[in-house]
Amino acid sequence: MGEETAVVVASAPGKCILFGEHAVVYGEPAVAVAIEQRLTVSMSNAGTWSVDGSALDNQKHPHITMLRNAWLKDAPPMALHVSGDIPSASGLGSSAALSAAVGAAMHHLSNPSKGIDRDGLSAFAHRAEAHAQEGRASPMDASTSVEGGVVVVSDRKESVGRWLYTRRLTTPEGERTWEVHGLKPPEDEVYLVLGNTGVYAPTSQQVAMVAQALEAAPSRIQEIQAIGAIARRGLAALVKGDYEAVGHAMSENQLLLRNLGVSSPELESLIQAAAPSSLGAKLTGAGGGGCMVALTRDPKQTSEAIELAGGRTLISSIGNGGVRLDKSVN
Ligand code: PMV
Repeated sequence: MGEETAVVVASAPGKCILFGEHAVVYGEPAVAVAIEQRLTVSMSNAGTWSVDGSALDNQKHPHITMLRNAWLKDAPPMALHVSGDIPSASGLGSSAALSAAVGAAMHHLSNPSKGIDRDGLSAFAHRAEAHAQEGRASPMDASTSVEGGVVVVSDRKESVGRWLYTRRLTTPEGERTWEVHGLKPPEDEVYLVLGNTGVYAPTSQQVAMVAQALEAAPSRIQEIQAIGAIARRGLAALVKGDYEAVGHAMSENQLLLRNLGVSSPELESLIQAAAPSSLGAKLTGAGGGGCMVALTRDPKQTSEAIELAGGRTLISSIGNGGVRLDKSVN
């Protein structure tokens, strides 16, 4: 078993949100980047469908089951092996990377002559995410993992980067629409250091907490709009390659996220530790736990400072490649 007998191997990156988490739920723009850390799936012929040695099961593997039913329902069974360096359940998009990599591998097996259809695959990966999260998922994780680079999601077409597609989803709260754009920011010697608190805080609870806060005090929508304004400013700086201004906007975004109540003492202590050696730092993803991100020109120093404060770190450049086939049947 494993890669030596695999007929197809595909990999996809995790993601990190630079600006706009939570506010994106209310229509404001958000910016995510594909990170260096990837998830790899290898598929080999087998007697029964399995994932890392256990039988394929809709409860345990909702993303994979949905993708298999779509593309390989009547195909001979296969064994899937999943590996990689994206920590799971920490806001770095490991489940979307799983959908993207498995989707690319299965789509290739069902249509070996066709290349990766990124639009179709990201739509599928988004549906698989929504299927696994009771109908609630923005397309941010799936699109970033499939497209790579930098992805901007908004409720309207933004005048930056390249508009890619519109995504629609019927959620339990009604119809949602997102405009998805791709960006290629100017290259520079800057890095992201991701600091994992190791604290588990489910995204759904964090999102519900913000919804309750807004229900209790509707005027707090101004805080959401302020995050949107900072995201637009940070995005403009990113397009220009002004990384000092990007870092500054990240730190401002963090102040608003903290006021909104989605930070945590663990996140604050890692962000504080990163501050002296970085251009800016904030929580990334839903907050309450999970990861923070620092933008830095000295990743070694920033990483050491975060580790000293008790975080587990990963270092990544900005804007890595999206989903790809690493080995294919032809
Ligand atoms: O924790 P993550 O990486 O799943 O990010 C959640 C981002 C939110 O804006 C809080 C929710 C969402 O659906 O966009």
